[in-house]
Amino acid sequence: MRALLPPGVVVVESHGDVPGARPFPGEEEALVRAVEQRRREYVTVRHCARQALAELGLPPVAILSGEHREPLWPTGVLGSITHCDGYRAAALAREGAVASLGIDAEPHAPLPEGVFGAIARPEEQSERERWADERPGVCWDRVLFSAKESVYKAWFPLARRWLGFEDATVRFAPEDGTFAVELHRTGPEVDGVPLTAMRGRWAVRNGLILTSVVVPAAG
Ligand SMILES: CC(C)(COP(=O)(O)OP(=O)(O)OC[C@H]1O[C@@H](n2cnc3c(N)ncnc32)[C@H](O)[C@@H]1OP(=O)(O)O)[C@@H](O)C(=O)NCCC(=O)NCCS
Repeated sequence: MRALLPPGVVVVESHGDVPGARPFPGEEEALVRAVEQRRREYVTVRHCARQALAELGLPPVAILSGEHREPLWPTGVLGSITHCDGYRAAALAREGAVASLGIDAEPHAPLPEGVFGAIARPEEQSERERWADERPGVCWDRVLFSAKESVYKAWFPLARRWLGFEDATVRFAPEDGTFAVELHRTGPEVDGVPLTAMRGRWAVRNGLILTSVVVPAAG
């Protein structure tokens, strides 16, 4: 994931759970009804996030969730979290390094039947064949899904409102690992300019799809 984010963003990732990692005071409440898998991903990714805080020169703190499930970062910090089978990652930056960011990881496998039609706009459905011609062997349906999840994670902290799968068009450049996002809902102003587009990166590595979206900082 580190290669998918610009300098100034600290990424800490883990392919397994960290023995001995424990929730911080306050985090335990989120785990009261959690199954073992959820407990492990929650604790490990927060361990990663605290390592990232340390790299930014900041003390370890509990990382709680807001009413829309968004992670609550210490003042002056922003970031994003992802976890899936066999992978957990946290990407953090000081405010000012970027305006917002989102990361997502998914297993590199096709989406269940019917899901692509529900998450892809018509123009994305017609582009899929071209993406597959340019980069065969990539599960483009799930790469699109992951890119859109990254879009949402970058969008929400700025907009503080819902963005549906139909509210953005993602256009991949299959050869260079990038994508452009056109938003069909006007977002909040960033540096005095309404947010209408985002840029992202994607990669397939070791059986995982990794995506990131960054909204650059002012200036
Ligand atoms: C929120 C969502 C994107 C999470 O993605 P996911 O693949 O289910 O799960 P991941 O493991 O990758 O990410 C989970 C993390 O997302 C973060 N997250 C959840 N809600 C969030 C929000 N509103 N804003 C920012 N981050 C959020 C949390 O940190 C969570 O981890 P935690 O519960 O341990 O803190 C997804 O569940 C969702 O609601 N998607 C629908 C919205 C969407 O994708 N729209 C498309 C817009 S084009």
